[in-house]
Amino acid sequence: MFANGLMTGQKILVTGGGTGLGRSMAEAFMALGAHVVIWGRRGAVLDEAAAEMRAATGGSCDAMAVDIRNGGAIDEAMQAVFDAAPLTGLVNNAAGNFISPTEDLSPNAFNAIAGIVAAGTFNTTVAAGKRWIEGGHKGSILSIVTTWVWAGGPFTVPSAMSKAGVAAMTTSLAQEWGPKGIRANAIAPGPFPTKGAWERLMPAPLAAKTGSVGGSDDIPLRRVGEHSELANLAVFLMAPGCEYLTGAVIPIDGGQWLANGGNFHALSALDRDDWGMIKGAIQATNAK
Ligand code: HXC
Repeated sequence: MFANGLMTGQKILVTGGGTGLGRSMAEAFMALGAHVVIWGRRGAVLDEAAAEMRAATGGSCDAMAVDIRNGGAIDEAMQAVFDAAPLTGLVNNAAGNFISPTEDLSPNAFNAIAGIVAAGTFNTTVAAGKRWIEGGHKGSILSIVTTWVWAGGPFTVPSAMSKAGVAAMTTSLAQEWGPKGIRANAIAPGPFPTKGAWERLMPAPLAAKTGSVGGSDDIPLRRVGEHSELANLAVFLMAPGCEYLTGAVIPIDGGQWLANGGNFHALSALDRDDWGMIKGAIQATNAK
């Protein structure tokens, strides 16, 4: 779909780049010639992903264990990244989420999600942005949100609140940092199966009870997304030639949110016993 070497000369940081959609985007950038830096919480997972992506693409990748819930760690790691060479792009992909009735959530549960998605995304963006501004460099920010920023996210309220905040950050910074040569866009994916999301959004007891929620019949294009389709959109937004596009939040969901909200409203049918089983399954996943 893209010319060989399209991303040559670019250096792009992908948070949460060791797994899931973050890894798919990182690998697509590498395959087109970008140097990629991946951040995540688990060093061993990152190192393995970086080695596999180098082997698959022949591209270059640095892996750094950074927990974006820790603002001090972000700034230190960002300084090390810029000391080597300034970034040209930042992809805010790292996220956390699980389904739960909102009335069951403790302050700690809210912080477990908002600390990554809202605060972590903000702190990472500022750490890159202030260095771009100080150095007089251009930069491109791409944040991964969800279609819940428009339709709301019943049973995923801390995620929906945080992602809506990231969409607001995107439109705000497009205006504030545009005069400094910094673009900000967002992609709002619908259903793209990944291990991290599916274990927490479609845990086994829920899948067994419902078959699926938001299955293909609810999607106008009648299927879930392929990772390569999301990666292609990310490449397009980060590529040279896309320099006039800023402040956009672009859905890629097969038409799902227009048709039915693209969220978990159908979980209103569950009872307390169902939620007890679901919480147990999710917490077993978190503990791994
Ligand atoms: C209610 C829960 C809970 C549940 C945890 N908690 N699970 N409360 N129901 N099912 C509460 C705990 O009791 C605790 O509060 C607090 O949340 C923190 O729990 P921990 O087990 O310590 O969580 P932690 O280890 O921090 O892990 C949480 C996480 C984790 C960081 C969010 O799930 C994770 O690592 N996620 C990364 C991968 C991921 O989530 N990917 C999905 C992204 S999908 P108390 O008060 O008891 O201390 C996405 C959008 C997808 O973003 C859109 C698709 C359409």
